[in-house]
Amino acid sequence: MDAEKIGKIRDAVRRNFEASPVQYDDFESRHGFFRNLNAILLETMDRENPRNILDVGCGTGASSIQLLQACPQARVCGLDNSPAMLEKARMKCCPNDRIDFIEGDASALGSCLRRRFDTIIYSASIFLIPDFRESLRQACSLLEPGGKIGITFMDGVYGETGNNLLVEADQQLGLGVSLKKPVSLSDLEAFIKSILGSIKVVEHNFDLPRDVVKDFFSIPAMSAGLFPAFDYQERLNRVSALFANMSSDNVIFRWVVIIGSKP
Ligand SMILES: C[S@@+](CC[C@H](N)C(=O)[O-])C[C@H]1O[C@@H](n2cnc3c(N)ncnc32)[C@H](O)[C@@H]1O
Repeated sequence: MDAEKIGKIRDAVRRNFEASPVQYDDFESRHGFFRNLNAILLETMDRENPRNILDVGCGTGASSIQLLQACPQARVCGLDNSPAMLEKARMKCCPNDRIDFIEGDASALGSCLRRRFDTIIYSASIFLIPDFRESLRQACSLLEPGGKIGITFMDGVYGETGNNLLVEADQQLGLGVSLKKPVSLSDLEAFIKSILGSIKVVEHNFDLPRDVVKDFFSIPAMSAGLFPAFDYQERLNRVSALFANMSSDNVIFRWVVIIGSKP
């Protein structure tokens, strides 16, 4: 992908998250989805007593605050390029010298951060970062030897037999779902392997009421991933139509956890 295209996608993602903090936190307080996802990530990373954690794409702080609570010895740094998401994150934390939130781009970690980390996570953010290779290269150079990088990647929405429900519903309704992601899972896995050697990859199939997943895709930034060409109201209409067309009450929301360790 050339630099101009990377810049355009990055700006669009940033604009979409600038419009998302209220709906994002509302979704999270109703369903606790990111909390569950982050708990799975932490368990899979199996870190003993981390001291210095970087949370890339910390959003409104769900993952950073969870890390702060789960790792009582650690300092946590949350980084995001959306001031509106960060403002919410800061509002949730009383002054605490174990956590700080920094505005910065995931692909320019080296210029925003002056310290090293033993743990770096990208929870629900890597698939939004078109120059993920540059971001991971820089993350790797900020990682101490023996440190770990942990990632959660959104894969898709499936039926019981593994059928792709977004593709099926779109084929039936012709809503124009965009299934292109800035980052593919195979490219991501191949790249992490190339910089860190062996990696651990674990698939998680969340069996959820389809309305929960509909609510996820109704967050402004998430709806823009499915229907980038439309305004928010029209995106909401299309997301509703898409999920109303699915025949089962429950769907499989598949995420992939990837863990790499620096030798
Ligand atoms: C789905 S949210 C995840 C938030 C958080 N990790 C959690 O568990 O709730 C993704 C976040 O990644 C951020 N993000 C996307 N692209 C980014 C980039 N290039 N640099 C920094 N942050 C980015 C977005 O602004 C958004 O807040």
